[in-house]
Amino acid sequence: MLKPRKCLLTLPEYRTPVNDMPLELRLDLNESTTGCSPRVLEKIKTMDAQKLALYAPRDAGEQVVSAILGRPPAQLLLTNGGDEAIDIFCRGYLEPDTEAIIITPAFSMYEIFAQATGAKIVTVPMGPDYTFPVDEVIAAVTPATRAIFITNPHNPSGSATQAANIMKVLNAAPDAAVLVDEAYYDFYGQTMMDTVGKLPNLFVLRTFSKAYGLAGVRIGVLAGQANHMAVLRRMPSPFNVNTFALECLQTALSDRKFVSDYVAQVRETREWFSKQIEELGFKTWPSFANFALVDFGEHKTKVMEQMTEWGIALRDRPDCQGCVRITIGRQKEMEVVVMGLKQIMGKLSAKPEAEPEPDQEQPAP
Ligand SMILES: Cc1ncc(COP(=O)(O)O)c(C=O)c1O
Repeated sequence: MLKPRKCLLTLPEYRTPVNDMPLELRLDLNESTTGCSPRVLEKIKTMDAQKLALYAPRDAGEQVVSAILGRPPAQLLLTNGGDEAIDIFCRGYLEPDTEAIIITPAFSMYEIFAQATGAKIVTVPMGPDYTFPVDEVIAAVTPATRAIFITNPHNPSGSATQAANIMKVLNAAPDAAVLVDEAYYDFYGQTMMDTVGKLPNLFVLRTFSKAYGLAGVRIGVLAGQANHMAVLRRMPSPFNVNTFALECLQTALSDRKFVSDYVAQVRETREWFSKQIEELGFKTWPSFANFALVDFGEHKTKVMEQMTEWGIALRDRPDCQGCVRITIGRQKEMEVVVMGLKQIMGKLSAKPEAEPEPDQEQPAP
């Protein structure tokens, strides 16, 4: 009888919340609600049949990214989104009888890709208020530890970890590959990228899905010491990054103003949104990313159900009791969310207070 590998039988399934439901506002996957630079759209329009008929060379894209990240191309591997970088990292260092340390709650793909290698998953919970549990992570390291995942800023809380703590883990686990997942780097501004190549066990992940608004195009990058990257490079298919992604990359990277304006708007709206949440009496944590984790406690189910009915997608986080993760969109979009929350909590009458502006999406009972 045909049998899959044993480790796959208990593999948690990633249930994508993306479905066919018509949605007014997607705030569940930390995508950009602003979209990508208009220059990228123009660039895509210049693509012709011949371009699409050809396999795209990834190396050219690595040269482009190299200039922006300040790392030589030999330290970089472009990937089909950050997800593929995680997969390659796991397949590079994990196998049965090895251990992977995941700090929970965590981005689901760490567990899925790590477990698919047959490795044992060791979980370490985040500290109080989602602080990085540096001592507990170091205590969890054993001679079998081969991979450690650190998300900075952390998903789903948005909390940040000081570089000094990451260094402590890197030094305490010289036989383990440490992945510093900087998917939300652009909203935070601090990075371990400059240390890549100096410490043999440090790997850094970046994605163009978030601040660059290119989630649908699928492009990310894995950085690490050149000799290790030379080995990891053997695993992806030669054309893992598609023509659209490679064509868009240079244009997306060249429009610095578009990204910095978007990041500035997210930061400003994020602070406004946090204050509103606190005024409504709910707890949220300081976030350094493009989302906020909100503790709705006993009201969570009501909030999720009503928002879904209005076509507003938020991300339920059953792994953080009472909490929902909410992507920070444009100011007007977040005003709609706050208005909806006030309505749900009965702080507004059934009719919203203010007349909506013409382009403003309006939750309505
Ligand atoms: C922490 C983290 N890492 C990696 C990713 C993967 O992003 P992508 O595959 O779109 O590049 C995500 C996406 O949500 C994420 O939240």
